[in-house]
Amino acid sequence: HFFQRTKVYCHEGGCGSCVVCASYLDKITNKPEEISVNSCLFPLYSCDGYSFTTVEGLGSKKNGLHPVQKRLADKNGSQCGYCSPGFVMTMYSKLKNNPRPSKEEIEKSFDGSMTSFASDKDPIDIEDLTSLKCLSPECDHDNKMLRIDMQNKTWFAPVSLEDLFSIFYIKEKKFRLMFGNTSIGVYKKQACFDGFINVKGIQELYGIKFENDRLTIGANCSLSNLIRIFAKYSEKCPAKFGHLKKLGQCFLKIGNVHVRNSACWAGNLAVKKQFGEFPSDVMTILETSGAKLNVYRNIRDLRGPMEMNIENFLHDPEIVVGEFLIESLTLDALDQEKTVCMYRKVMPRSQNAHAYVNSGFRFEFESAQSTKLVNEPLLCFNGIDENFFHAEKTQKFLQNKDLLDSAVFTGSVKILNDELRESGILVQKDPLLTTPDYRISLALSMYYKFYIQILHSKSKEIKTELKSLPESIVDSRKISNSEESVEIDNQSFPLTKPIPKLNAYSQTSGETKYVDDLPPSAHQTHGAFILSTIASAKIDHIDIEQALNMNGVLGIYLAKDIPGENNLMPKPFIQEPIFADKEVIYARQPIGLVVAKTKEIAKKAAGIVRVKYTDIKKPILNIQDAIAQKSFHPKPSCGDIIKGKRLFFVILKNHLL
Ligand SMILES: Cc1cc2nc3c(=O)[nH]c(=O)nc-3n(C[C@H](O)[C@H](O)[C@H](O)COP(=O)(O)OP(=O)(O)OC[C@H]3O[C@@H](n4cnc5c(N)ncnc54)[C@H](O)[C@@H]3O)c2cc1C
Ligand code: FES
Repeated sequence: HFFQRTKVYCHEGGCGSCVVCASYLDKITNKPEEISVNSCLFPLYSCDGYSFTTVEGLGSKKNGLHPVQKRLADKNGSQCGYCSPGFVMTMYSKLKNNPRPSKEEIEKSFDGSMTSFASDKDPIDIEDLTSLKCLSPECDHDNKMLRIDMQNKTWFAPVSLEDLFSIFYIKEKKFRLMFGNTSIGVYKKQACFDGFINVKGIQELYGIKFENDRLTIGANCSLSNLIRIFAKYSEKCPAKFGHLKKLGQCFLKIGNVHVRNSACWAGNLAVKKQFGEFPSDVMTILETSGAKLNVYRNIRDLRGPMEMNIENFLHDPEIVVGEFLIESLTLDALDQEKTVCMYRKVMPRSQNAHAYVNSGFRFEFESAQSTKLVNEPLLCFNGIDENFFHAEKTQKFLQNKDLLDSAVFTGSVKILNDELRESGILVQKDPLLTTPDYRISLALSMYYKFYIQILHSKSKEIKTELKSLPESIVDSRKISNSEESVEIDNQSFPLTKPIPKLNAYSQTSGETKYVDDLPPSAHQTHGAFILSTIASAKIDHIDIEQALNMNGVLGIYLAKDIPGENNLMPKPFIQEPIFADKEVIYARQPIGLVVAKTKEIAKKAAGIVRVKYTDIKKPILNIQDAIAQKSFHPKPSCGDIIKGKRLFFVILKNHLL
């Protein structure tokens, strides 16, 4: 019961409710570091070598609140309070690293939280909390490989490559390497393994080497550290690695701060290798920066690492999931005067989301001012089709061409459009993805913007209205701010006086109890909804027999079992059934409820209830379909359009969808 104040919600690293502050000795900087991490993705055994501060370690209503907890509550930032401990720990971890962050830095560090933090100008002073150290003798394994045998799996924590290779001597067994374990937040179902190997202890995978104009970065480098390394070497050696400055910042578009603190770049590429459709940003950014990989193609055969480019790594059939090890990446110097690089990402929101499409371009010119290309340029995309990465035909067409020639522009756009369409994108494999046409238009517009950017940067004449085209609206957006104005009615005072929410302090300290925090009571039962699997149909028959006979199922309730009216909404609102009875009008509409002894049994039983549908209709998903099928809002209300039009400064006409 002690650690109930840290909440958990999404279990996939996306909402930030579960954030805690992790302290450890960073093997790259060789300094103690304090970072925010998503505890929901942090396996218990990989806590070895870390100490954690949870919201319990900050303050409580009884013992006094930490300034961050108090500030969040006083500024009405706690809202429902469920994710407040996560906000508090995110801010706390930020302040541990930087006691005087700017507003911009504060806003950026909340890219992993789903609501907004109330901040103002005054800095918050935090006292130095000494981290707890684990003193248990079992935890001291004297820098030797740790092995923990669980019921049917084994956990290994090797400290050297030699240890790692020795594990793979165990033939016929499959192992899953693990660094940050954040991929579980993206792909919950991964292949079955006999054991887990935590590679975090392997010293050789942390190496950073800079010699002969080559920069080598070990696989065990978190995305946050990679951003720092790119910044460091672009500053140290601007004439050769200046391009890493901007490209390093692009990693900030990946996930959120907690994910970037935990995840390594090599893990990201391994995810891409396993799940071809994954729109990896790491892959596109590294390819744009010219990275090569050093890979043990098969850990079991003990041949040394092989240098290869990223595309070969992805498509080499002999590199099999669970059998290879990425050791490091290598970056060669680029001629900064002649080379132009750009990475772009379009995603559903400006932070913490996967790309619809991302792109990377790297063009080398004859000279700093020249627009004539030498060699084949690089155009790569993710999010198009799992087998499509380089726009090879466009690359070949552009080789040695002059970008000022308008035929080069029109020709390259046509070829790019054609090869995107031929890539396999037109077969929409995942209905949840955005449409192929939309993704193709994104890829083309990214290329167009890059083209304009090059001409602009080389001071070539371009139309004034095109000059702002390469700029990203999202990146140039100001930090968010808000204002709250409350009208106080003096006659009713103090009734209308604004006061902090009464339970705000217990919310920010994590002491508020939610249903999930309550211990199970005696004879507690669990429910799971039976949900419609299609959007629009008549219900013909519901077969509950098999589910009802399942061990542990206590009852199944349908519309006919509801005593009284089957209606969720009070009058005069439009009636909405509690359980769909004769028809379903949207996908995942509740049709009934299974009650069982455990949550798992209830869910399983709900999944095997058979619903037979008739009169299945294609759902109406856009305005055009709604108009065609005369499906209108019951009571359309309309103002005076003619009068309204006179008041508008600009009228835009286009399709909404
Ligand atoms: C909320 C959230 C948002 C995200 N957003 C983005 C995003 O916007 N863009 C994006 O590109 N990614 C995104 N990701 C994915 C994330 O970047 C990857 O999950 C992460 O980089 C994987 O690294 P890891 O250390 O956690 O790997 P793990 O999860 O520990 O491992 C992943 C895989 O890599 C293998 N592996 C690990 N190290 C090695 C190695 N050295 N050699 C060989 N195999 C290895 C493991 O065996 C495993 O199969 C997001 C993830 C989350 C949870
Ligand atoms: S529970 Fe949502 S990020 Fe961990």
